Amino acid sequence: MSASRILLGVNIDHAATLRQARYRGLHASPQAEPNPVEFTREALAGGADGITVHLREDRRHIQDEDVLAIARLPGVRLNLEMACTPAMIDFARRLRPAAVCLVPESREEVTTEGGLEVAGQLARVTETVRALASANIEVSLFIGPDAPQIEAAKATGAPVVELHTGAFANAWKSPAAARELERLRQGCELARSLGLIVNAGHGINYDNIGAILTLPHLHELNIGHSIVSRALFTGIRSAVAEMQVHLRRP
Ligand code: PXP
Repeated sequence: MSASRILLGVNIDHAATLRQARYRGLHASPQAEPNPVEFTREALAGGADGITVHLREDRRHIQDEDVLAIARLPGVRLNLEMACTPAMIDFARRLRPAAVCLVPESREEVTTEGGLEVAGQLARVTETVRALASANIEVSLFIGPDAPQIEAAKATGAPVVELHTGAFANAWKSPAAARELERLRQGCELARSLGLIVNAGHGINYDNIGAILTLPHLHELNIGHSIVSRALFTGIRSAVAEMQVHLRRP
């Protein structure tokens, strides 16, 4: 599944964050806005290659009904971010999105990088990967770009890793940025050498994207906050199209 260009997955959670800020408990009412489904339609019209949503256990932004409605949209390739819990595994196996990205939600699941602690809970993550893969869902693991987590990800049988770019994004414009980019580069190389598909995400914006695109072997970037923020000024269609200009630049 190597792509000739890097794909853009647009994380639309923050459209739901805005709706919940005013309509918590009333998200199903006709006046609840903004509507994440309409927002998704516009993101697709702007050229999103995929749509990512994180159905959190606390349902703080995206709701079950949002996910079900988005999954029904024609032409959508849905990437569901979720925790490794029996309830979420059951939800995903019934929904059958194209992809699931396993992410940490509870404190003990988080590495110092902020990614999923795979090495420290190998049996649990492996079991989750198997349960999802047997429903024909492509599973990725959201991990920090360090060797123990990448090697553990490989051991679970997951075909994809999403490398956490947050430490790099936070260090942007500081002396530590070059070091964080180098760690990501080494992570991309290691993951690829193990036969893993390499995605990346967290904190990527219109400014740091140029540096991110110097990384090798990238298959897909998942970007949310910066695109949704820009959409407040330009609309989501235009914000997505603008990010695609960066990704498609030769
Ligand atoms: N990838 C994963 C696994 C995430 O959890 C998030 C944040 O929700 C993102 C990508 C997107 O991060 P951002 O909103 O900072 O672009």
